[in-house]
Amino acid sequence: MSLEGTSIEYDKLTFKDNASPLTFKKVTHKLPVSKDEIAVKVTAAGLNPVDLGIYYTFHPWVSCLFPSYRTLGRDYSGTVVQVGSDLQNQYYVGDKVFGYVPTLSTGTLAQYLFLKPKTKHDASIVRVDSSVTDEKLVDFAGIPLVFLTTVQSLSVAPLSDKSRVVIIGGSTSLGWTAIQLLLNHYKVKPENLVSVNGSRSNSFVQELGVLQQNTINYDQVDSLQNPVLEKAKDGKFDLILDAAGNSDLFDHIKEILKSKEENGHYVTLVGDHKPVYASSLLARFPSSFASFKRFIYWNLIGGGPIHYQFRNVHASKKDIDLAYRLYKEGNYKVIVDSIYRSEEVTEAYKRLESNQARGKVIVKF
Ligand SMILES: NC(=O)c1ccc[n+]([C@@H]2O[C@H](COP(=O)([O-])OP(=O)(O)OC[C@H]3O[C@@H](n4cnc5c(N)ncnc54)[C@H](OP(=O)(O)O)[C@@H]3O)[C@@H](O)[C@H]2O)c1
Repeated sequence: MSLEGTSIEYDKLTFKDNASPLTFKKVTHKLPVSKDEIAVKVTAAGLNPVDLGIYYTFHPWVSCLFPSYRTLGRDYSGTVVQVGSDLQNQYYVGDKVFGYVPTLSTGTLAQYLFLKPKTKHDASIVRVDSSVTDEKLVDFAGIPLVFLTTVQSLSVAPLSDKSRVVIIGGSTSLGWTAIQLLLNHYKVKPENLVSVNGSRSNSFVQELGVLQQNTINYDQVDSLQNPVLEKAKDGKFDLILDAAGNSDLFDHIKEILKSKEENGHYVTLVGDHKPVYASSLLARFPSSFASFKRFIYWNLIGGGPIHYQFRNVHASKKDIDLAYRLYKEGNYKVIVDSIYRSEEVTEAYKRLESNQARGKVIVKF
């Protein structure tokens, strides 16, 4: 399977503003690809909450200021169908790949992607074994963004088999990725890992290795403070990873988390509050701003008792290679909530927006 001809016309998801629907638009790309480029026929694209934040940010009046069509999607899997002359010995037609692109300008919800793997922007790409079936390749589109975010967040703390960790949002995609990495890669002991999740997700996190007595149900308590303080009686924690958005623990953080000197780290990926997925990134700003202020005061000015960070994902070839290595070793699996056909992309985003998806929502082409 390779591309022929002097150009290719293909479908790419576009939207103008959040009052207009998501539609596939025909776009063209000149062939052959440039010497530093590969063409990938997309098998599937994974959806992420950030896509919804971007979609809802483009209110019609915002779009008036920045008039153009926009795209969505950062995760992809697919098959290489043309290789530029400079990359002939690194990629081959027929290679199966998955990867991450950090910006909107690419938009992985498209039938084809044209990538420059030597650039930092497109370098987070992994070639998988040829034995991976097309059906399995669909699942790989669920790996990149959540894996990169999680591994980059966990790397801020010096974790070992003695570490004690709380994950707020254990059943989010970031959360179930963190549970697997902590237990299987960092060898954290199950008795030292606490998951905060909804009561409907207890068996889900327990199947990943969280102990029944170490699940705290956010929907059964007014605040996480007392249940986490109770758990801290067995020893203060080394890391709190917030993958949901919460601020319940700060009043008693010194009793819960090890101090700065003892390398206690609090990492949030969301901010102080659980966001509504169907909201603009601007609406989420106050929650992020509270985090940002804490980061400035606690870390940069040095006034806080612990290390505190608001992390954001970045592209990394090394980290995405680790995802595939752990996958092959059986130490990490991607959990898929649902797979939609490209014609059903609106329904797919509705599923993500429901905040009930347990696992990745994927669109296949
Ligand atoms: N900073 C970054 O670079 C970065 C990167 C990726 C994602 N994020 C953010 O991280 C968050 C999680 O993303 P994701 O893709 O992992 O999420 P996700 O997979 O869409 O999470 C869905 C899960 O959230 C759980 N949930 C709903 N309300 C909750 C609450 N109040 N507390 C804890 N869990 C709750 C639900 O399960 P239960 O209710 O059954 O537990 C549901 O299964 C999002 O806000 C996203 O925007 C940030």
